[in-house]
Amino acid sequence: MTIKGKHIYITSCTVQRHLVELFYAFSQMEIKNLVFFSKNLTLTRQREYLSRMEESPTDHLFVIKEIETEQLVGTIGLHEHDVHHNNIRYGGMVFPGYKGKGYGYEATRLILGYAFNELKVNKVYINAFPTNDNLIALCAKLCFRFDGILREHYFLNGKYHDMYHFTKLRKEWKNE
Ligand SMILES: CC(C)(COP(=O)(O)OP(=O)(O)OC[C@H]1O[C@@H](n2cnc3c(N)ncnc32)[C@H](O)[C@@H]1OP(=O)(O)O)[C@@H](O)C(=O)NCCC(=O)NCCS
Repeated sequence: MTIKGKHIYITSCTVQRHLVELFYAFSQMEIKNLVFFSKNLTLTRQREYLSRMEESPTDHLFVIKEIETEQLVGTIGLHEHDVHHNNIRYGGMVFPGYKGKGYGYEATRLILGYAFNELKVNKVYINAFPTNDNLIALCAKLCFRFDGILREHYFLNGKYHDMYHFTKLRKEWKNE
């Protein structure tokens, strides 16, 4: 599945097409500083993760490509689709060097269209660390609603962390 925007397009991530490219991109970055990322990234682990995503019926992982250069500029996904309650979690990342160009916004609009029009979910939610100013600003720009704080929702590095919970409903998307 490929969805085209103005400056970027998003395309379903596959092991065959994207493993090496993604592994290379992540290896170049100071990715170890990112809290939610595995500290010991290896090609094998990366392959396992991408295979799991590819096979999972509840995850939809895409890569973000710049149209002009075909450069890989990030990843974006919908995860943990709860088919009964019909909600899904958003996750995404624009690589250093490509941030602040509107790509995160554009890619998120594209994937929201996919979530509401193709998957027909009722709700997309975003859980953000309270310190993640860029993501919180992106949620505001996309008119996500701040539903509150999920107390000690996320376990990382031996500690429970509060998360800000943002949501967008299908009826809100349709009216935009
Ligand atoms: C959050 C993230 C995806 C945004 O992507 P991006 O391409 O840099 O964002 P954009 O250029 O599309 O900006 C969209 C909006 O986000 C906000 N924003 C993004 N970067 C910002 C910054 N450095 N300072 C303030 N606001 C910022 C602004 O509201 C901006 O709109 P504006 O330019 O009209 O003010 C990116 O910063 C990122 O990858 N962060 C690290 C990974 C992460 O936290 N992912 C979320 C996990 S769920």
